[in-house]
Amino acid sequence: MKIAITGTRGRVGGALADHLRKAGHDVIALTRQDVPLDHPPLLREAISSIDADCWINPAAMSSPDACEQDPLTSHAVNALAPSIMAQACRQHDRYLLHFSTDYVFSGKETGKRQELDVTEPINAYGKHKREGEEAVLASGARAAVLRVSWVYGAEVPAFVEQCLQRLSTGETIQAIDDKWSIPTAMPDLCQWVEHILHQQPSAVLHGCHAGDPVSWHGIATHLRDTHMPDSASEIRATSLAEASHFVAKRPVHTAMAHQLLSGLLPHPIEDWRAAMARVISQA
Ligand SMILES: NC(=O)c1ccc[n+]([C@@H]2O[C@H](COP(=O)([O-])OP(=O)(O)OC[C@H]3O[C@@H](n4cnc5c(N)ncnc54)[C@H](OP(=O)(O)O)[C@@H]3O)[C@@H](O)[C@H]2O)c1
Repeated sequence: MKIAITGTRGRVGGALADHLRKAGHDVIALTRQDVPLDHPPLLREAISSIDADCWINPAAMSSPDACEQDPLTSHAVNALAPSIMAQACRQHDRYLLHFSTDYVFSGKETGKRQELDVTEPINAYGKHKREGEEAVLASGARAAVLRVSWVYGAEVPAFVEQCLQRLSTGETIQAIDDKWSIPTAMPDLCQWVEHILHQQPSAVLHGCHAGDPVSWHGIATHLRDTHMPDSASEIRATSLAEASHFVAKRPVHTAMAHQLLSGLLPHPIEDWRAAMARVISQA
């Protein structure tokens, strides 16, 4: 399959490009220089000139705080660009897999969000990502939206890698204990994407593991208990209210259920703890 991927200097796009190339696909790895998402005319021109069977769009303005501070760029990149991409895919009959986020939910209710649950984003990032989702789904293109959360296990380090690093050096870890989701292992996400590309559903999918929702503090504690019980690190619980460096409001309960994705896969999706143990043992 010939697959064009945006945002390949980013955490998800880079890992997907590597994985799909190794899996034997013809991958066109694109960066912001090739496909500038905040420049509609250049974006249209670039998309139309690149011949691929599928487009994957993990490129995004992915920092909620940056989006809050620069809503115009956030809207261009996270809402308008997916719309333009979907229109081009419909025109050229290409499949589009567009990445989105658990931040489309308000996070007010405990438990897990289903794919078709009402969305009610509470910050600019979530609002613009939701607008992008809606544009993709309404475009008439063959397209899926894949929502993910707390991705780790890629080349670009995430909270899990930072924790492991701190646990190994005995540094103190301060972690928020009143916000819950489920961490997503990049190697598993790569496999899920392959299955999606082969079946090309038109749907909203949740790319996440099984298991109970966990906080960042819960992840840090789990990593110490299971992987570094002798670490000298102190793990201090903090709260969202204490995170004064956050510019954007954070949704609290955004763990997702993955029923629709499960239906596309040959094996059940693992608990996040089992996936984390495997990814760490293979690193
Ligand atoms: N990682 C997570 O835990 C997580 C959680 C929830 C949702 N998501 C979603 O998953 C997707 C992938 O996230 P990620 O973690 O890979 O994000 P990331 O590491 O921030 O990568 C985003 C990529 O988008 C590119 N980009 C940003 N602005 C652009 C523009 N104007 N034109 C073209 N490219 C632009 C960046 O290019 P540069 O490298 O040049 O800056 C970067 O390569 C996003 O849709 C994100 O919303 C991720």
